Amino acid sequence: MPDEGDIISKEKALKRIEELRAAINEHNYRYYVLDSPIISDAEYDNLFQELKTLEEQYPEFITPDSPTQRVGGQVLSVFRSVPHSKPVLSLSNAFSEGEIREFDRRVKQLAGGAEVDYVVEPKIDGLSVILRYESGLLALGLTRGDGIIGEDVTANVRTIKAIPLSLRHREKSIPEYLEVRGEVYLPKQDFKKLNEEREEEGLPTFANPRNAAAGSLRQLDPRVTASRPLRAFFYEIREVRGEDWSLPRYQTQCLSWLKELGFPVAQFQHCKDIDQVISVLPEWEKKRHSLPYDIDGVVIKVNELEIATLLGSTGHSPRSQIAFKFPPEQVETKVKDIIVQVGRTGVVTPVAILEPVKVSGSTVSRATLHNEDFIKEKDIRIGDTVLIQKAGEVIPEIVSVVKEKRTGSEREFVMPTRCPACGSDLVKMPGEVAYRCTGMACPAQIKERLIHFASRDAMDIRGLGPRIVEALLSSGLVRDPGDLYFLKEEDLVELPRMGKKSAQNLVKSIENSKERSLDRLIFALGIRHVGKQTARILADRFGTLDELIEATEEELTTIPEIGPETARSIRVFLNTESMKEVVDKLKKAGVKAALGQEVREFKDGILKGKTFVITGTLKSMPRYEAEELIVSLGGHVSSSVSRNTYALIVGDSPGSKLDRAKELGVPTMTEDEFIQMIKGVV
Ligand code: IVH
Repeated sequence: MPDEGDIISKEKALKRIEELRAAINEHNYRYYVLDSPIISDAEYDNLFQELKTLEEQYPEFITPDSPTQRVGGQVLSVFRSVPHSKPVLSLSNAFSEGEIREFDRRVKQLAGGAEVDYVVEPKIDGLSVILRYESGLLALGLTRGDGIIGEDVTANVRTIKAIPLSLRHREKSIPEYLEVRGEVYLPKQDFKKLNEEREEEGLPTFANPRNAAAGSLRQLDPRVTASRPLRAFFYEIREVRGEDWSLPRYQTQCLSWLKELGFPVAQFQHCKDIDQVISVLPEWEKKRHSLPYDIDGVVIKVNELEIATLLGSTGHSPRSQIAFKFPPEQVETKVKDIIVQVGRTGVVTPVAILEPVKVSGSTVSRATLHNEDFIKEKDIRIGDTVLIQKAGEVIPEIVSVVKEKRTGSEREFVMPTRCPACGSDLVKMPGEVAYRCTGMACPAQIKERLIHFASRDAMDIRGLGPRIVEALLSSGLVRDPGDLYFLKEEDLVELPRMGKKSAQNLVKSIENSKERSLDRLIFALGIRHVGKQTARILADRFGTLDELIEATEEELTTIPEIGPETARSIRVFLNTESMKEVVDKLKKAGVKAALGQEVREFKDGILKGKTFVITGTLKSMPRYEAEELIVSLGGHVSSSVSRNTYALIVGDSPGSKLDRAKELGVPTMTEDEFIQMIKGVV
């Protein structure tokens, strides 16, 4: 029995604990959300220390949302996969005023012609997080993942002090359920400091703040995340439920609600129309460099959320929002050398080898020069100082030569007359700018063709990258794509740096690729002038590979999208002896599209390439309907759970498939979760 004194001091302790928590939360809010702290760091630390001591004395008073409970001890071996409540979309981009006006025109047209007001927000260069709060407490933090299933990073999110563990509530009651979206980022200065520290410790540095933020949030040990000064901004209420709560009418309101609930919100601007939006863009671009965090543009959003809902989304991005990307950063560097590369159709591309330099967040050491004419036009010489930028923020390109910096020692580039890979003559076809290697058995071409065959948009053979292709070719195991299908695990383990597990996986990926649709196969063959779009048209028109092989040049040219050059190219390519051999091998191996068996695949569905398994009885629809729905959205349905299963949909009285999924760590979702997930798109 505790004596009376004990009880009193316990009561007092609880009161003080609660006071301290409230005070710390308030100071956190002032610091991270309002950006106007009123106490010093030392004073803050004292409050925190006092709370910690009291909680150590009275552990029964520790609550999960106490500021002392941000760092949990558990180290994970893998992140749990959790389906999102609805798809987490991305944004489409605009790069010019014209594209923004076009966006506005579409918005107005779809919204019935009325004037539309917009919100301009900075586009934070970090990574998306989705947070769920249940009864006001942070219950789950997810990364975007593939937009349908995210990774559970709750333990890591909890360590970010700018993220409230419990919601603030002043005027209204706490929402029963709240789901918000925001961006986790690392401030510029902290990014610089982190990289300096890493360099000193001999660790690899991060290429940009975004990678640093992503690397820090996706840590299996939350203590590592806690050691990185991550911040966050929030910009979307995905769902809110509760007595006094329903979604607000305007994005501006959404942002002020977020702030009231305790979330940091970046500075934004309300614009009455698109002219005003356009007039503020230069200010943002100027401001970009003085902000303490990296932004790569601004996001323009329709303010009225009812209009936004009306506009809907394309499956990839909402029609009511667009990102305006700032023009790329340009920097100077030197051309050390110019080499040539041989592609899969024999085209020889000159490439500039550059003095490595940082541009738009990563180090660049090469840039394509496209062809001889490009080099002549820009007058690029070896030894030149050049201005480079990243096209679309990713592909390095030379903008111009800084001629004033020439010293006279620069050398003009001369296109070689022979292929660097096989020594065959290089020729320029009439009417073309490119040189081509004429070697029928040029190893560089064969290699590129195989890489293309296995690539994502073609047969999508995971694990068959350039290194393995090279090893397969030099070991003599493979000479053309058809040979891939006869590879055995025993052959593969013999290759350098190939373990048993990777060999097994590769055999499995090759096997899986037998299911690819006809258009993918046509594209994968690598016929000149036949890109993804043309391959799709050919597949639709001919239905089977044999029909396409039989088609005459005249027949091909009757298709409106196919010109005489493409028709000839298809004819010649499919008629070569070597291609006939490849097709025979593909048939023998059981590649479905080569055999004329129909493989249904819907290209742009949100479930593209994902395999689902269903177990138990579904309430809302018969199973075959669910299966059709999945297929119509681009997914596959399989009858058994394997490591390749994307998710198991669990109905009533599930069978052993559920155990199997758990065993393999395959994500599961309830029928409701599945329906929620696809709701935005059907
Ligand atoms: S809205 C449905 N607002 O940019 C569209 N996104 O390139 C939801 N981002 O995936 C995005 N700042 O991770 C929005 N103020 C902002 C943003 C923002 C950064 C990121 C977000 C998104 C990516 C698209």
